[in-house]
Amino acid sequence: MADNKAAEKASSPRRKSPASPTPEEEAAGILPPQHWVETAPSEGDDGDAESAIGTLDPSSTASISCSILKYRTLHGRRYHSEVGNAEYWGANDERQSESMDINHHTMTLACDGKLYQAPLEKGKVRKALDVGTGTGLWAIDFADEFPEAEVIGTDISPIQPGWVPPNLKFEIEDCTLPWTFAPNSFDYIHMRWLIGSIPDWSQLLAEAYKACRPGGWVESLEPECKFESDDDTVTDHTAVGQWGKIFAEGQKKTGRPFTVVREDLQRKGMEEAGFVDIQEFEFKLPAGTWPKDPKMKELGQLTQMVMEADTEGYVLFIANTLGWSRDEIQVYLAHFRREARQGKLHPYYRQKVIWGRKPE
Ligand SMILES: C[S@@+](CC[C@H](N)C(=O)[O-])C[C@H]1O[C@@H](n2cnc3c(N)ncnc32)[C@H](O)[C@@H]1O
Repeated sequence: MADNKAAEKASSPRRKSPASPTPEEEAAGILPPQHWVETAPSEGDDGDAESAIGTLDPSSTASISCSILKYRTLHGRRYHSEVGNAEYWGANDERQSESMDINHHTMTLACDGKLYQAPLEKGKVRKALDVGTGTGLWAIDFADEFPEAEVIGTDISPIQPGWVPPNLKFEIEDCTLPWTFAPNSFDYIHMRWLIGSIPDWSQLLAEAYKACRPGGWVESLEPECKFESDDDTVTDHTAVGQWGKIFAEGQKKTGRPFTVVREDLQRKGMEEAGFVDIQEFEFKLPAGTWPKDPKMKELGQLTQMVMEADTEGYVLFIANTLGWSRDEIQVYLAHFRREARQGKLHPYYRQKVIWGRKPE
């Protein structure tokens, strides 16, 4: 596990989940949206520049069924069409895709360039699956690294590029429904950042268990939805500190937990499904350039870029679900961006990666 040690060091200190509040307790201190309006930032809004919302090139999507392209919009942002039982909180337009792409590089750097932690052997992975692939960068990198493997990336939005390695294809599939893949067919199944999208993690991991071949591996990497600090700079009265409370409150409405890491849903699901040799590690990802350690500073800068690329696309749907008006959301976002740029807070958020083997 030398490589895991390196990742742990890069993102130290390694920690187990602390005795943390339940989602109800977490959401309890949520400030009403009027709070942000009444305490409007005095030094102008450092709001992020709005970039044009991307449109799909019809020629590149000719083979995609029309219903998949019947996107919904919310306050000018684009969201996925109706697919099965899916309900995803993030926008699916160009701005959000750009943020997702930067996040892929951030996550890969945080794991010391490793795309996976499971002990995969080159030449032995014949078939791999990336569930909720997003813009597909992880799947593209994995397909390049395992050219002999057939790689499939699934999602509910057709936001993946057309030029991909020949051994990779993308499919529209709602992972919250029973999977359509043949049982025992994948050597490796990867899931990253499905937080807030999955009503039942045990069911998801049971489906993954079924689709995985005996001896194969399933891996899940999920973030915490809240920002914390070790020096108490992130308090409940800051917009950055309220971020997690907004999502914890939102999950009460959507029934799809954002508190996956602190509730240990990945491990519980894996154990219930029957996986063995389960291993995990947690790491902290800083937001902002405050860390002194050069690698952590770089990660913090990248995380800030992820957020700044599209802070709105992350929070808009959930705040709207809570009944916040468009203006209230924009004022909250202005507070959030201002705090993030001032650099007085020292926030980080936790990530947990866990992997397990299906017994032979
Ligand atoms: C935060 S993004 C993460 C993307 C990618 N896994 C990554 O780490 O870069 C979550 C992705 O999950 C997809 N998703 C949400 N609900 C889904 C579902 N029920 N079935 C399949 N994909 C889903 C979203 O469309 C989105 O692309």
